[in-house]
Amino acid sequence: MPKVCILAGDGIGPEIMEQALRVLERVGQRFGREFSLEHALIGGVAIDATGGPLPQETVEACRRSDAVLLGAVGGPKWDDIDPAIRPEKGLLGIRKELGLFANLRPARLFPQLRDACYLRPDIAARGLDVMVVRELTGGIYFGEPRGEETRETGRMGYNTMVYHEEEIRRIGVVAFEAARKRGSRVCSVDKANVLDVSRVWREVMREVATDYPDVELSEMYVDNAAMQLVRDPSQFDVVVTGNLFGDVLSDEAAAITGSIGMLPSASLGANGPGLYEPIHGSAPDIAGQDKANPLATILSVAMMLRHSLEMPEEATAVEQAVEQTLDQGLRTGDIAQQGDGVVGCRAMGDAVLACI
Ligand code: NAD
Ligand code: IPM
Ligand code: MN
Repeated sequence: MPKVCILAGDGIGPEIMEQALRVLERVGQRFGREFSLEHALIGGVAIDATGGPLPQETVEACRRSDAVLLGAVGGPKWDDIDPAIRPEKGLLGIRKELGLFANLRPARLFPQLRDACYLRPDIAARGLDVMVVRELTGGIYFGEPRGEETRETGRMGYNTMVYHEEEIRRIGVVAFEAARKRGSRVCSVDKANVLDVSRVWREVMREVATDYPDVELSEMYVDNAAMQLVRDPSQFDVVVTGNLFGDVLSDEAAAITGSIGMLPSASLGANGPGLYEPIHGSAPDIAGQDKANPLATILSVAMMLRHSLEMPEEATAVEQAVEQTLDQGLRTGDIAQQGDGVVGCRAMGDAVLACI
């Protein structure tokens, strides 16, 4: 029986997780599968209960699972505590502990949501189907030295963007393999006109590309990529980039799909459990109000079924149920247009369940 570790976290985390777990249960009934679930603490709720955002128990619970499903972490309650134990440190910590260097963030504009897309209708009509492959355990998020200091000249803060060629190669391989299963194009996004680390990134990406003559490699500076993503997103297939640039570009891509509440993700390592989570945060502004869109988390369940639990049929059933729910016109506030009836998080979950 596959084991799944559940980390609901903070803010809207528990609300969206509840709907995701109802979907998983329904998949079990429909396909005759059982899942063994173990709940553990991460983020702010873990700080409140144990004093730290990533208790050792949580790491162990994740390690003995086949997959980890996460809601979101963070919130105003913990914004002013010691940065070393912020809720976000828990998320960064579990990614690092599990070696989850490859973050797949598929941004797709569902045809049903074309009106929710912020782009001009003629651009939206061309569609958007981009796989952002974000490096997740390196770069400026983890580079040393880092810190805050007060010197004679005043206060200063610093971080280091560093990539070792092996880290670049392995994320490159993930991107090129992904492209082979899609449109056979990889765009590597960097800032090689300014950053030394990006020049090494480019060199290594070109080396990886020589093993994939069937895949086309292009290169783009991150500022231009941010602009191109709204000017003509249909030009992209797979985008491979570092930790920080990938964080920013994937929220941008999410907005083009109509809402950040639509984008799932998979974080994978060389072996061990994968971690699945929506790309959005804990949305403190709507937490506890049954307003959150649960679809990104439900679509993360689909990615988990496909990538970690080897249940492709079940994954497809979940994805189709989401599409059918959108076909029926159900919309949470974030994807609603003027005149649409708005449903809550739970009602959206109900609708997806009914379609499985
Ligand atoms: P956020 O993604 O939480 O929210 C940004 C905006 O998007 C808000 O207006 C919010 O209401 C909306 N939104 C997000 N998810 C939604 C959903 N499912 N349905 C409808 N609307 C949704 O980003 P933020 O406000 O910058 O950060 C809030 C907290 O979350 C911070 O503490 C931040 O560090 C944390 N965070 C956590 C994660 C994560 O756990 N993976 C990701 C991003 C931010
Ligand atoms: C995300 C989030 C995280 C990140 C934060 C909360 C650490 O923004 O998953 O996109 O920056 O990776
Ligand atoms: Mn982010």
